[in-house]
Amino acid sequence: MTGRTERYDTVAILFHWLIAILIVANVGLAWSLDSFDEHSPAHDRILTVHKSIGTTLLVLAVLRLAWRWKHPGPPLPETIAPWRRVAARLDQGLLYALLVILPLSGLLDAGAFSQPVHYFFLFDLPTLTGHNEPLGHAAFAVHKAAAVALYALLFLHAAAALQHHYVLKDDILRRMLP
Ligand code: HEM
Ligand code: HEM
Repeated sequence: MTGRTERYDTVAILFHWLIAILIVANVGLAWSLDSFDEHSPAHDRILTVHKSIGTTLLVLAVLRLAWRWKHPGPPLPETIAPWRRVAARLDQGLLYALLVILPLSGLLDAGAFSQPVHYFFLFDLPTLTGHNEPLGHAAFAVHKAAAVALYALLFLHAAAALQHHYVLKDDILRRMLP
């Protein structure tokens, strides 16, 4: 190790920020749907982009977890309080779980309502299930609940990162910056 503090490797940093940008964009797209009539072409197009980005996020999440398995991140510095370590592990673990639950519930919802993902307007992805409305409603309820959990966890996560940087003035944010 050469620097003062160990950093995440370049691949982990790329995954982190690419996924962060796509998640925020996808939440923004979902929120923007409310401004359009449900049967309008604009609603349709935005939902197709939302589903396509969401499916891409599932692939990125699996690749990221595989990378992390072989290349675990640097340990937290000794100076970090025990409660913060536990909170960070919990928050990050749940974020990883949501990165899988959100796209999977979305894909189940799409399949169960027979609305396959028209991936970036190029081709239809195979569906995870046949037509099954009760399953579709359940999957959508999970999708909505997972989205609410994501807002809370992301808020805590980003607030903690900023607190480390601006209040505690340590290197935690810098470990994850390019
Ligand atoms: C990590 C990826 C994803 C995130 C963060 C995400 C997030 C969201 C959010 C925040 C909403 C609004 C929920 C609400 O109205 O309370 C939503 C709605 C929805 N999502 Fe996702 N989603 C993701 C992936 C997917 C995927 C992969 C699909 C389908 C293949 C999908 C299908 C839908 C559908 C159909 C809706 C309802 C849209 C409407 O209001 O008409 N999502 N999503
Ligand atoms: C919005 C701004 C964000 C900031 C400022 C931020 C900041 C950070 C920082 C500084 C770390 C490293 C913590 C450490 O040293 O242990 C980290 C790790 C992590 N972040 Fe974020 N993050 C953001 C968004 C996101 C988003 C959208 C996700 C979505 C899933 C996410 C998921 C994670 C995960 C899972 C880790 C743990 C990495 C690992 O050790 O495997 N972050 N983040």
